[in-house]
Amino acid sequence: MKLFLDTGDIAEVSKAAEWGVIDGVTTNPTLIAKTGRGFRETVLEICSLVPGGAISAEVVATEYDEMLREALEIASWNEQIVVKVPLIRDGIRLTKELTKRNIRTNVTLVFSVSQALLAAKAGATYISNFVGRVDDISGDGMAAVAETVAMVENYGFPSEVLVASVRHPLHVVEAVQAGAHVSTMPFKVLDQLFNHPLTDIGLKRFLDDWNAAGLEIFERVAR
Ligand code: G3P
Repeated sequence: MKLFLDTGDIAEVSKAAEWGVIDGVTTNPTLIAKTGRGFRETVLEICSLVPGGAISAEVVATEYDEMLREALEIASWNEQIVVKVPLIRDGIRLTKELTKRNIRTNVTLVFSVSQALLAAKAGATYISNFVGRVDDISGDGMAAVAETVAMVENYGFPSEVLVASVRHPLHVVEAVQAGAHVSTMPFKVLDQLFNHPLTDIGLKRFLDDWNAAGLEIFERVAR
């Protein structure tokens, strides 16, 4: 499974990139607006921090001609960029056109398998299925993920199912169980994936025993 970081925050991308476990970064207009910096400079800095990673950057127009103009501009900035497109009628038309032009797409704001089918038919590289926003209104966000994974596999669509709107580590575990190809998450959730109390207890015991025995890795050599 690929792990993407869902952020526009350069410090967070830098920290996660150091760990070497992220395959890309997803942004959206809200996350970019929070940075207080320009869209292009932020996205390009993220590209340089995650070499070879898939970096999603979203169009903001909602009418086809302007969406296409924005998509071509965004895609021209760096070959790592994946154009994020909302699942609206003109967005699906745009996805089909970008697919023809060999520009990768991430179809976003997908909540149902019927929407995901349209994204897959249009050739979406990634289908961003939101889970947290459905859970927030007492739904089962992960149900559509499982159905979409089954759909792309049954019909052999090359699209990857990306679990988005992740709120906590259990969402990541459930995404794994559903066989999703990608999970994107805020830095806080990525950081939480490390945690287990038995790891902390176990490490403390190892180090206490080692120190009590007076052992050293770099032994002093008598000259
Ligand atoms: O970027 C798309 C998605 O991950 C947003 O998540 O937390 O705003 O529902 P959230």
